[in-house]
Amino acid sequence: MSFDFPEGFLLGSATSAYQIEGAVHSGGKQDSIWDVFCRVPGAIAGGEDGTLACDHYHRFAEDVQLISDLGMNTYRFSVCWPRVLDDGTILPAGMDFYSRLVDELLAHDVQPWLTLYHWDLPAVLPGGWKNRDTASRFVDYAMALHDRLGDRVRTWTTLNEPWCSSFLSYAAGVHAPGETDIADSIRAAHHLLLAHGRTIEALRAADPSATLGVTLNFTPALPASDRPADVDVARRVDGTNNRFFIEPVTTGHYPADVLDDLTEYWPADLVRDGDLASISSPIDVVGVNYYSTNVFRAGEVADVPTPHISAPDAVQVLRDLPVTDMGWEIDPGGLRDLLVRLHDTYTGPAGASLVVTENGAAMDDHADPDGFVEDTDRIDYLRSHLRAVRQAMDAGADVRGYLAWSLMDNFEWAMGYAKRFGLVRVDEELRRIPKASALWFARVARTGRVEDAASA
Ligand code: FCB
Repeated sequence: MSFDFPEGFLLGSATSAYQIEGAVHSGGKQDSIWDVFCRVPGAIAGGEDGTLACDHYHRFAEDVQLISDLGMNTYRFSVCWPRVLDDGTILPAGMDFYSRLVDELLAHDVQPWLTLYHWDLPAVLPGGWKNRDTASRFVDYAMALHDRLGDRVRTWTTLNEPWCSSFLSYAAGVHAPGETDIADSIRAAHHLLLAHGRTIEALRAADPSATLGVTLNFTPALPASDRPADVDVARRVDGTNNRFFIEPVTTGHYPADVLDDLTEYWPADLVRDGDLASISSPIDVVGVNYYSTNVFRAGEVADVPTPHISAPDAVQVLRDLPVTDMGWEIDPGGLRDLLVRLHDTYTGPAGASLVVTENGAAMDDHADPDGFVEDTDRIDYLRSHLRAVRQAMDAGADVRGYLAWSLMDNFEWAMGYAKRFGLVRVDEELRRIPKASALWFARVARTGRVEDAASA
């Protein structure tokens, strides 16, 4: 069955600065923690890094033209903090770059959706997110950027996926800065949320009509059986994957069971008076990043660092589902259920809407001699997840948009360039070649309609 999205529904794509920009030392830019992490032997598959990436810093006008040619009405991008500020001092070249990008988007009738933090923290900040002071520095950065772009950018989101920049980065060591201390990862998570909340307060005061929010990643966790041990391990993973972030943001408290689970690690004096009031200051939109749903059973305690800080005994059980090139199970029903749950439990009561700010698939792409990729598998993925969004809306969830990850193939963090999420292929010469999925998505974006697989 074909289906439609309403007038005004956001349909577009997303990227992030470090994954596409390159030019890592242009205009006085100093290292981010990702520049540093990529130099650690063994940290990144193939020893790759974002030094050149897609060279978007120099090709942004071409990329905006592409976004426009693909009929997208919204483009979600992130700003690289150390590109615009060096230890508190404004870097004019970096500010000019984002200003020109925004102008170019607006000239093509594409709404800019700005993410302040997609993981490239200035390496110079002592202690990174372990240090409470980083939250204050973040507010200064956000307001300096808003001074320059606030007249044109109307959607401001603070963080992308704080689960990744805390537990995956400071407990599992998989992302920058590559540390493995559970208490520090909790410090990082709280300071990220504090940075979010204080920035929302400051932006709201400066710009009451802006649309403000945060993007969280949600990986629903289901028990493999109704055995109490499996049910409990799924509860604990859900606690740190999902509820640890959405609950304080929308209700002003950390989940009680998660606090209990983490008692032995929770740093004394971490949460100060007023922190949770800031963290829960009202927002307009929650960005939802969804890739998969995971099933867990209780098993052996992992002997390697894990991001599941309260569930080292969680063992993922694969179902009989197709997987993407990341090995992630394809489960669109999980997206429908998640959106309904978020609306009913968290965002609806808090008065915020939902936008899917990332969803997409790495696939084993093969280019024909002209460089074209006939990625019907990616089209199927996108179609089924767009249908899930429509179903969630029909069930009452207030979903306002869907932004595909990603506009183009890019640097996939610890996995390097081998994992291709793009609607647009980027070849060895950095040429942008729209895949079949890009052409398919362009029709959806132009018409707001998703045709049935048989008629598409
Ligand atoms: C998300 C990130 C994004 C990209 C996708 C595949 O966790 O936000 O940058 O890496 O996964």
